[in-house]
Amino acid sequence: MPSNSNPQKCEKVKQEAKKGKFLGKGAFGEVREHGAHYVIKTEKCKSGFRKKASEFVPNVTTYRKVLSSVIKAGLAPPIKDAYECGDTCITIMKKAPGQTLTNSLHLPDAPEIIESVYKGIRKLHSLMKAPYGHGDLHSSNVLVHKTGNKWKPKFIDFALERKLARSYDWKFMKDSISQKSPKYKELTKSLEHKYSK
Ligand SMILES: Nc1ncnc2c1ncn2[C@@H]1O[C@H](COP(=O)(O)OP(=O)(O)OP(=O)(O)O)[C@@H](O)[C@H]1O
Ligand SMILES: [Mg+2]
Repeated sequence: MPSNSNPQKCEKVKQEAKKGKFLGKGAFGEVREHGAHYVIKTEKCKSGFRKKASEFVPNVTTYRKVLSSVIKAGLAPPIKDAYECGDTCITIMKKAPGQTLTNSLHLPDAPEIIESVYKGIRKLHSLMKAPYGHGDLHSSNVLVHKTGNKWKPKFIDFALERKLARSYDWKFMKDSISQKSPKYKELTKSLEHKYSK
């Protein structure tokens, strides 16, 4: 059993995970605020591409290794703690500022925001250890915020266990934006052409 899965600690952290302000719900669990600077994600251990509970902590180790320079560059939130508690897996990570790209597509700034995300994907791939890509890159898995007069993306919810060609990251992002906002179909096509080369 991993050292961070002791039953008392698990009970405490499970209770903690119910307290903060609700931020989002996915297919396998939910994310809540955890103090002012962190979020806490509770999910079923056998979720997404993960088949066994015991794959969770190794995945967090992979996240830290593969993404160390991405985290340093501010393109993904660092993970503080991870717990494997029976069927429940819990991650505490830095809170990313802003809102999802999905919730930003109606803004007048949307074309600029989308371009910042495309530039971000190019940078993400250049910093991630090959052959990894994000693996589940859609518009709710990127948060955007403005610093000064520039939009900045932060990528979350990496599916590092899903080994797909990096070209799928571009495809998934393009499809998710153009399904939600068909008026950005051409824009996403031309940005893919510009940044994925
Ligand atoms: N580090 C973070 N900082 C701020 N908000 C976050 C963070 N991680 C997740 N969230 C919020 O919680 C939502 C769900 O998070 P995440 O994508 O990790 O979970 P999920 O279970 O995969 O959800 P989905 O299936 O909708 O993608 C995000 O869309 C975002 O709004
Ligand atoms: Mg997600």
